[in-house]
Amino acid sequence: MAMTDTSPHAARYPAGAQAFPHRDLLGIGQLERHEILFLLDEAEQWVELNRQRTKHVDALAGLTIINAFFENSTRTLLSFEIAGKRLGADVVNMHAAQSSVKKGETLIDTAITLNAMRADAIVIRHGSSGATGLIADKVDCPVLNAGDGQHEHPTQALLDALALRHALRERGETANDFTGLTVVICGDILHSRVARSNLLCLQALGATVRLCAPPALMPAGIEAMGAEVFHDFDAALDGADVVMMLRLQTERMSGQFIPSAREYHHLYGLTKTRLAGAKDDTLVMHPGPMNRGVEIDSEVADMIDRSIITRQVEMGVAIRMACLDVLTRRARGVAGWGDAA
Ligand code: CP
Repeated sequence: MAMTDTSPHAARYPAGAQAFPHRDLLGIGQLERHEILFLLDEAEQWVELNRQRTKHVDALAGLTIINAFFENSTRTLLSFEIAGKRLGADVVNMHAAQSSVKKGETLIDTAITLNAMRADAIVIRHGSSGATGLIADKVDCPVLNAGDGQHEHPTQALLDALALRHALRERGETANDFTGLTVVICGDILHSRVARSNLLCLQALGATVRLCAPPALMPAGIEAMGAEVFHDFDAALDGADVVMMLRLQTERMSGQFIPSAREYHHLYGLTKTRLAGAKDDTLVMHPGPMNRGVEIDSEVADMIDRSIITRQVEMGVAIRMACLDVLTRRARGVAGWGDAA
């Protein structure tokens, strides 16, 4: 397996550690366009490996990765665990519900404890925006943000970009970025770290991003981030190449944000009829978990020629392998990575 920057696209970014000079992956907002492309290109080798019968290398043998999840997860936790194991690392999962957090231990003390166990990388999901950055300041190893509050979910945006790139390539598109593409992100934008990370990632790669939500679920001033804002879903879908649906994050809502799930589905649910108003080949995405019949109908979510939702899950493992591999290169002494910033 490639351990240095030998990908066919290497000329598109600086060599060695300068291609990705960060210790941590806390958000897409910290990344340059070429750093995003570098991680996507690095993930391609893991997509290939994951499609083989034997899905294992020893690149991270001897390293310990701790997945510390303070919020529920299926896709992110399992794919980080699978990613670490396929790279040969020892992987330990800490579920906050069964940890000493329940006895009152603080986030900082938890971080210091994990650090004392000499983890080589810590993956954190937490309900508070900025919690992963707080932990990164307290530990000696790379920290990967697996979703922090309403802030960012960087590996989700990266896997979404990889899934989209693969789907476009299957249609004969050869571009590595998304220049000329119009992507609609529809749903609970206000509470969504996925929306924020995707907005940053898609724009960095050249796409036009339309955000669509009821006024109560649209962050004030989001236009300043370069997004086109819509409250009419049919208008947002007009001419769109991709539509990414988001669930209502009721766990982050205090009070009533929508009149009813039924009315929300009527105005903002992706139905087959509504999708017919977009292009003939508009792609459908959803980060999961889905609430079928609320933000998306089953007959759309399961469309084999339009929905790339299961492909997003597949790419999640490859992207997380790429992130773990790249972020541990300095500690592993991979050639060209000793002088990282
Ligand atoms: N997309 C996503 O983060 O899913 P999980 O909450 O299941 O990890």
